[in-house]
Amino acid sequence: MYTLETIKKYCLNCSKCSLHATRTNVVFGEGNPNATIMFIGEGPGYNEDIQGRPFVGVAGQLLDKMLNAIDLKREEVYIANIVKCRPPNNRNPLLEEVRNCIEYLRWQVKLVNPKIIICLGAVAAQNIIDQDFKITKDRGIWVELGKFYVMATYHPAALLRDENKKRPAWEDFKSIKRKYEELKCTI
Ligand code: URA
Repeated sequence: MYTLETIKKYCLNCSKCSLHATRTNVVFGEGNPNATIMFIGEGPGYNEDIQGRPFVGVAGQLLDKMLNAIDLKREEVYIANIVKCRPPNNRNPLLEEVRNCIEYLRWQVKLVNPKIIICLGAVAAQNIIDQDFKITKDRGIWVELGKFYVMATYHPAALLRDENKKRPAWEDFKSIKRKYEELKCTI
């Protein structure tokens, strides 16, 4: 019987791709093991690599604020990434790195079994929803993938670079809140 803890143990010892050689820590992911909502980012950055925890830098602080704004606490949701080790200089993960790593995310999704999956940014959306996903055009749209309601919104780091993205991202978060309330009523 696999549990999140057993998968995490495998993941912490992983050397399936070259990112293992440059990492400080594996960032497995964290949160409520029975979360209704799972947020998926791209991969650890500098702070995450140092601390071994997802979204703990400035982008993470913004994510926390946006969660709080829709009455969610970080501890209530589950937060993970497409790749678990930091790509050097925060470059996008390579196809080979994603292929080697995504099995861990599949296990996380299977074991947490959320109702809602939110992709943060284009890399997460392209690996989960559609490889041709265009974040500016396709964000905010709900798709049903199997038993999951899935939506992508801007990565919080993108909001820090471009103020104009904050309003549409806020609309997306309000939509997440609505979907969450709607699903809560059907449980
Ligand atoms: N950006 C991500 O995509 N993931 C993190 O964990 C931190 C920053």
